[in-house]
Amino acid sequence: ITYGTYDLLHQGHINLLRRAKALGDYLIVGVTTDNFDLDRGKLNVRNNVMERIENVRKTGLADEIIIEEYLGQKIDDIQRYNVDIFAIGSDWEGHFDYLREFCQVVYLPRTEGISSTQLREEFQEEIIDHHRAGDGKEVAEKLRPRGKRRTAERHVAVQPEPREEGQRKNNQHRRDMRGNRDEPEVEQ
Ligand code: CTP
Repeated sequence: ITYGTYDLLHQGHINLLRRAKALGDYLIVGVTTDNFDLDRGKLNVRNNVMERIENVRKTGLADEIIIEEYLGQKIDDIQRYNVDIFAIGSDWEGHFDYLREFCQVVYLPRTEGISSTQLREEFQEEIIDHHRAGDGKEVAEKLRPRGKRRTAERHVAVQPEPREEGQRKNNQHRRDMRGNRDEPEVEQ
């Protein structure tokens, strides 16, 4: 039996599953639920549990896939499924020695240079770059010319007229509205 999140399934996962499978004749893979990961502090897992299960299934290396949803489930599973070997990557070295009471515990060599964390960070960088590039392009092609025009229009519109000139126009406007009737003009 082996456990993991298997987010953004990568070559390290495949190697691990292949090595685990080679230890016995029937491989059970426990995939963590989204809540279980949240509870243990894995906050930015990209694939949901159904996607992660599906990706593990597609490797063709798991004979059975179960979900891991609570702390202490490993002991229950080992007993329930009559497991002979618990296998996990060497990044967990020593961490699961307490299971030796129930079955054999094997730490398998971890594949260097790849992890879900690394992939998530790379995707994050790509997303940021994409937005930067997108914004840059939009500003250049759309926003900037319109912005310039708007600024120019606003400047013209808010340009204050000399007071007397504005007054003269206002009075003229009132005369027009009154149809040039001979009424005294109201000083503003
Ligand atoms: N694993 C491995 N080699 C890697 C990455 C993972 O052998 N380069 C193994 C882990 O040791 C574990 C299994 O794959 O037995 C599932 O690990 P998981 O935690 O899902 O993958 P990580 O890539 O380590 O994920 P994260 O970066 O989120 O910790």
